[in-house]
Amino acid sequence: MRPVVLAIETSCDETAVAVLRGFDELLAGEVWSQAQIHSEFGGVVPEVASRNHTAALPNSIRSALDHAEILPGAIDAVAATAGPGLPAALLVGMAAGKGLAIGLRKPFLAVNHVEGHLLSPFFGESMIEPHIGLVVSGGHTLLVDVDGYGRYEVLGSTMDDAAGEAFDKVAKLLGLGYPGGIEIDRMARGGDPARYDFPRSMLNSGDHQFSFSGLKTSVRYFLERGGGDLADVCASFQEAVVDVLATKALRAVAAAGRTCLAVSGGVSSNSRLQSVLRESCATAGIRLRFAAPELRTDNAAMIAFTAAHQLAGRGGSNLDADIEPTLSAAALSR
Ligand code: KG4
Ligand code: ZN
Repeated sequence: MRPVVLAIETSCDETAVAVLRGFDELLAGEVWSQAQIHSEFGGVVPEVASRNHTAALPNSIRSALDHAEILPGAIDAVAATAGPGLPAALLVGMAAGKGLAIGLRKPFLAVNHVEGHLLSPFFGESMIEPHIGLVVSGGHTLLVDVDGYGRYEVLGSTMDDAAGEAFDKVAKLLGLGYPGGIEIDRMARGGDPARYDFPRSMLNSGDHQFSFSGLKTSVRYFLERGGGDLADVCASFQEAVVDVLATKALRAVAAAGRTCLAVSGGVSSNSRLQSVLRESCATAGIRLRFAAPELRTDNAAMIAFTAAHQLAGRGGSNLDADIEPTLSAAALSR
């Protein structure tokens, strides 16, 4: 059987709906980004996000069904992101998903957003091979030892800012646009990554934890003292982030005795992170996987894919599921 799952993602500022048949047949994948709206405020405003989700969701669902060329009755299960995320934003997708499931008399599945990112490099596959997962997004930075679907051990996460958050905050300090990661990546291409020496926090902490707020503060002090060449600052800051991420990811692979590293989340689009990892993984004989570009930033296809695995595994329906805004990374290790 190849069940059809309709998934809704509204954890932050993307309204997304996907329809997936089996593990690999993406019938529709709509993402409506509110980034433009929030860019005026320099970051996501929760209240504005939830109102826009409420306004956008009915059309997004209708349009996903149109693209999928299926009638609502062909849906076998409805899924929605339960957390982590902005409470007011999560409530919109969860309520819509539950309503749809009740109306269609089909099971409802609550999905962990971080698990969605974690599995995204394996989109389309019915088996999740053992690997180390590096999730680097605007809200999360973590290293997970994955033995297969549902068998996770969180090795480490960030103690303060997420990697993408550091990119966004530093971009703001530099007067670049939001989201800042892409801007810094672009500016850094013409810069010297060795020009300024920014701190590599926790690089030799002896564990798998991260910290990026000190780096951001260090850039702020640097700018207050007069700053420097913009492209060189971008390249040097980016190098510090990439150095820590790549070094610690490779150490985690070695420590766990794995042979595969999978990288997901918005920051995995960073060109320097990709080239450093490609080179170091090739040298170390580690297979390296990235999520497809459209699956890196928030989307509903990864939520549908995770739900498909949940359905094939423990199955069931959970209409009683509450939102879990602060669902910690450790929840993956259940
Ligand atoms: O996965 P995502 O949508 O975030 C969360 O789920 O939280 O990723 C968005 C993050 C933003 O912080 C953005 O600045 C960052 O990914 N990002 C990048 C790049 N493209 C997006 N960071 C560094 N380099 C990039 N090329
Ligand atoms: Zn995300």
